Parts: sequence; C-alpha cells; structure tokens
Amino acid sequence: MACRKGCSDNQTKWTLVSIVSVALVLTIGMVLGFTMQQPTRPDCKPDAACRPDADMLDYLVSLGQISHRDGLLVTWYHAANSQADMGAALSGNAMVLEADVTVEGLNTVNESEVPIMAHPPAIYSDNTLQQWLETVLSTSQKGIKLDFKSLKAVGPSLDLLRRHTENGRVRRPVWINADILRGPNVPISVHVNATGFLAMVQEKYPEATLSPGWTTLYLALGPNRTYTRAMVEEMQELVGAMPQRITFPVRAVMVRAAWPHFSWLLGQSERYSLTLWQSSSDPVSVDDLLYVRDNSATHQIYYDLFEPVLSQFKQLVANATRKQIYYTGGSLIPLLQPPGGDGLGVEWLVPGIQGNGSTAKITFPDKEGMVLLNIGLQEAATGDPVPIVQVSGGFVLTLESCLLQLAPRPGRWGVHLYIAEPTALRPSLAVLAHLSSLGHLPRPVWVGATLSYGSFEVPGHVAGREFLAAVAEVFPHVTMAPGWPEEVLDSGYGEQLLRDMLELCQGLRQPVSFQLQAGLLGQSVAGTVARLLAASPQATVTVEHSLTRDSYAAVRAGLLAARAMDKTRVYYRLPQDFRKDLLADIHRN
Ligand SMILES: *[C@@H]1O[C@H](CO)[C@@H](O)[C@H](O)[C@H]1NC(C)=O
Ligand SMILES: *[C@@H]1O[C@H](CO)[C@@H](O)[C@H](O)[C@H]1NC(C)=O
Ligand SMILES: *[C@@H]1O[C@H](CO)[C@@H](O)[C@H](O)[C@H]1NC(C)=O
Ligand SMILES: *[C@@H]1O[C@H](CO)[C@@H](O)[C@H](O)[C@H]1NC(C)=O
Ligand SMILES: *[C@@H]1O[C@H](CO)[C@@H](O)[C@H](O)[C@H]1NC(C)=O
Repeated sequence: MACRKGCSDNQTKWTLVSIVSVALVLTIGMVLGFTMQQPTRPDCKPDAACRPDADMLDYLVSLGQISHRDGLLVTWYHAANSQADMGAALSGNAMVLEADVTVEGLNTVNESEVPIMAHPPAIYSDNTLQQWLETVLSTSQKGIKLDFKSLKAVGPSLDLLRRHTENGRVRRPVWINADILRGPNVPISVHVNATGFLAMVQEKYPEATLSPGWTTLYLALGPNRTYTRAMVEEMQELVGAMPQRITFPVRAVMVRAAWPHFSWLLGQSERYSLTLWQSSSDPVSVDDLLYVRDNSATHQIYYDLFEPVLSQFKQLVANATRKQIYYTGGSLIPLLQPPGGDGLGVEWLVPGIQGNGSTAKITFPDKEGMVLLNIGLQEAATGDPVPIVQVSGGFVLTLESCLLQLAPRPGRWGVHLYIAEPTALRPSLAVLAHLSSLGHLPRPVWVGATLSYGSFEVPGHVAGREFLAAVAEVFPHVTMAPGWPEEVLDSGYGEQLLRDMLELCQGLRQPVSFQLQAGLLGQSVAGTVARLLAASPQATVTVEHSLTRDSYAAVRAGLLAARAMDKTRVYYRLPQDFRKDLLADIHRN
C-alpha cells in the first residue's frame, strides 16, 4: 500500500524510458536497415522485367533472386492477409506473396466497396488492400499474386492497382487469380463469373498476368476424377484470345492424370504456364511432379507446394542420372530439343537388324534422335496378323519385340513409326497402347503415314479420315506425321493439296508434324512451310529426303527456304551426307 504512489511513479518512469528506448532502437534499426538494405537490394533492371506485366521469372532473375528461368526456384508465401501474416511474409524469404482479397462485409448488410485482405469465410480483416499495397510496395520487392474469391472485389482492387501503377510504384509482376470455371469433383461450383472477371481485367488493369483456374474438390475417399478435356478446352476458349501472360493454377494431386490436356494447353501459347498448387491435406506424389517436370520446359511450371513434398521433389530433380518418363504425345521439347532450340539438332536414326524372326536383334547408330521404323504387317501362323518392322534385306522383327528391345536403351530418343502398309495402322496403334499401359513406352512417339484424301486421294495409301479415327480410337497419345502421296506431287505442293491437308488436320488435339519432300519445296506455292506451321501453335514441319533421284544440289534451295522460315519448328529427316552438306551450307552463310 505504502509504496503505491512511488511504485506507480516508478512505473511511469520506466514506461517512458522503455518507449524512448524502443523508439530509439526502431529509429536506429530503420536507419541501419535502410543504409544496409539500399546497397544490398539490387535495383530492378532492365525496365522490361520490372513492370506489372513482366514475366515473373525474368523479374526474379533481374533481381538476382534466382539464377535462371526455372519455376522450381520460385518460393511462395500463402495467405499473407492480416497485418501479422503480411509482416511475417515481408520479413521472410519468400519471393512471391499470395494474398486473398474480398470486400468488407461481403454479402451482409455491412458490405462496402472496400477491398480487404481475407480468405473466405472471413469477411472482415485488420488489413485493407490499400494498406497492404502501401506496405508491400514500399518495403519489399516481392512479386504479388492476388487471389479473388468474389467478383465484387475485383473492380475496386484493380482501381487501386491502377493508381499505384500510374504513380510508378508497381515495378514488379502482378498476378490476378480467380477460379472462373467449374472443375473436377465439385458438386456446386461457386466460381467467379468468367466473362465478368476477364472483361474487368481488360478494362481496368490489362497489365496483370492472368491466373484463371477451376474450382476443385479432392477428397482422399471421395470421387477422384481429374480435369477433363472439356474443362481445359473451355478455359482455352475463354482466354485464348487474351493478350496477357497466363498461368493456370492446377491442383497438383490431379495433374498427372490430366497431363494430355495440360500438355495440349501449354502447347497453345508461349505465354502460358501452369502453377501447381496443393491443399495442405492433398497427398501429392513426387513421381507425378517428376513426370510434369520431365514433360515441360523449366519456365512453364511453377510449384507452389508444401513440405516435405517440395524438398523431396527438388532433391530428385537434382539427380541428373534419374530415369525420366516422357509423355508419348508430347513434343520433342525438352527431350531432344531444348526450348527454343534448333530443329536441325534432331536426327532421324534408321535401325538395322541382325538375325531373323524370333532371334532377330535390332541395332542402332550410337546417337540420340528419333528412331525411324517402317511398319508393315505379317500374317501370323495363328491369330491376327502382327505389325513388323521392315528393314532392308528382308529380315523380319515384330514391332512389339522391337519396341521392347528399345525400351531400356539409355540416352535421348523417341520413336517415329511410318505406317508403310495401311492395314498395319490399327494393329500398330494397338501395340503402342499396350506397351504404353505397361510403362514400356516412356518416349515421344510419332505415327506417320502417307495419306489419301481430297485432292490427294490415291488408292493404296491410308485414308485420311481413317488415320485420324484410328489414332483417336486406339491410341491418341502421339504426334501425327502425315504426308502426301508421291503420285500427286509432280508439280510440288500446290494450293489445293495444302488446303485439303489443313482441312483434314484442323482441330486435332495431337501435335502434327507435316512431312514434306525437300526436293519439291523449290517448285511449291510460296509460303508452303509457313502455311503449315500456321495450322496450330503445336504444328511442326519435317523436311525429308526420300526421293532417291535427287542430289543435294536439287534439294538445297528447298532446305534453305524451309530453314529461313523457322528454326525451331522445322525438322530435317535427311541422309547423313545431305545433313552434312546442309550444316556446311548454313555455317558458310
Ligand atoms: C455489421 O457491423 C456491425 C457493426 O460493426 C456488427 O455489429 C454486425 O454484427 C455486422 N453485421 C454482420 C451481418 O456482420
Ligand atoms: C456473368 O457476367 C455477365 C456480364 O459480365 C453476365 O452477362 C452473365 O449473365 C453472368 N453469368 C452468370 C452465370 O452470372
Ligand atoms: C482414382 O482412384 C482409383 C483407385 O485408387 C485409381 O485407379 C484412379 O487412377 C484414380 N483416378 C485419378 C484420376 O486419379
Ligand atoms: C540418382 O538416380 C539413380 C537412378 O534412379 C540412382 O541409382 C542414384 O542413386 C541417384 N543418385 C542420387 C545421388 O540420389
Ligand atoms: C526371315 O524370316 C521370314 C519368316 O519369318 C522369311 O519369310 C524371310 O525370308 C527371312 N528372311 C531372311 C533374309 O532370311
């Protein structure tokens, strides 16, 4: 009792002292922090990488935070929403902040137009987007991903971003995320109105990278369907014409089962990437992640995942001798051709056979490339006729046995089946489907044939429609490699020949590589190669030389013209000596 006054005096004094010291420490800290941070925080350069519409990888490379364009190097902070969480995120190492935006009091009498930082079901927050942007923009260089669960929050939020951008403060990529389509296993979807969302972004803040996703549900014991082709196509229809960079958020636990669709989607634009995400209870498999990694370029996938899966995955990725598994229907990138790499680097390898029948062994040049197999059909003593690999000298080896012998071959290679006998088409596709289902075909596979269709209808070749139907029905996971019959090519690739082939292949989900005779390109309609490449973003052209009558001099002009058109999407299936001559020609020029 007696000391009450004195004690409280003392308390006041101590409180004052503490406040002063804290203020001092803070001031010193800030000054130190400032002086220490300024030189160590590199300025963002070049300007092209330091804008809201910049590529996230370019931006982080320019800051020196990552060494090269690999989505696996990017680190994420989730739900940096409340003041406390935002503070923790800002003082941590994560390179990109992900935060959820809604409007205050959403769907209640208290609803306002103020965007706040909260994840449903929360509709109040101690942090508004205005405060969040002020703090994040002034105290960090972290990338920004804003996740919208309601269309109501989008407009006012983009207005805020617009204002900060016009003041020159948003020198970093901004991603705008919303689930705009109904996805797998969702009984009642509460996605954001797609047209409303996309129109709003175009109108108010077209600088953003779009991150449009599907609502999803995953329960270990519930229905476990994955993204369907229709879902992925619907998304492409919605966003295909948008000019922005787009990263599609995909639930990692479901990605592998839907890989054919996502492989197709990634092939539709250079501006596309995927962001794999995980809900905390999702049993994401490291093997699935490795599969995605092997079948995409490093800049095409971001991995927004939890531990311990993320570290296990990174460790396995670092193992250069790890066995890789490729999607048969994928492109030659990255297995045989680096992203953006020269198509001339891919070689076609012709096998030889030692022995005959059941004891035959296949031999290959000791090189990387596409193994070219000419396929015929042989009557079997019992049962159905079997597809065989035709080689010179009349030796016989079944396709199945050939592919099984190939399977353990190390190094980088794919298979190109040329269906020389039309009746071998479906049996060959059946062999591919069978071996693939057993895991014996982890390589890119091309299936090619000389087609008969429209203005190039020639009996004895595979009917164009039948080619498409057989692939679709028996084994759709291939690249198609159609060519024109030699019989119609006397005056090169004429207008109608091109038009009919393009019409036939229109809308195909598979990558297509049109097979052209080098010797005929010189006398063909201008822009033959360009016309075919324009068929789809995934289309490629393979210039081959199989008309033995031509010398290199006769095909030279065609080869160089094709090459001048496009370096990455034109391949060359040439005899070794022609290839050498072409390389020499290119080096000379
Ligand atoms: C609206 O706000 C008032 C005052 O802040 C609060 O008492 C009330 O619970 C809110 N109503 C709803 C439906 O959230
Ligand atoms: C989505 O928004 C557009 C206008 O932006 C509207 O026409 C359409 O009806 C909306 N769709 C749904 C399902 O609410
Ligand atoms: C769903 O689960 C079944 C049984 O575990 C499995 O065979 C199937 O591949 C799963 N489907 C997907 C799409 O993951
Ligand atoms: C890398 O992978 C190979 C093949 O799976 C395995 O044998 C080897 O032990 C792995 N190396 C490391 C360092 O993990
Ligand atoms: C290889 O065996 C097939 C029968 O399986 C036979 O028709 C063919 O003549 C044999 N070829 C050679 C070169 O021995």
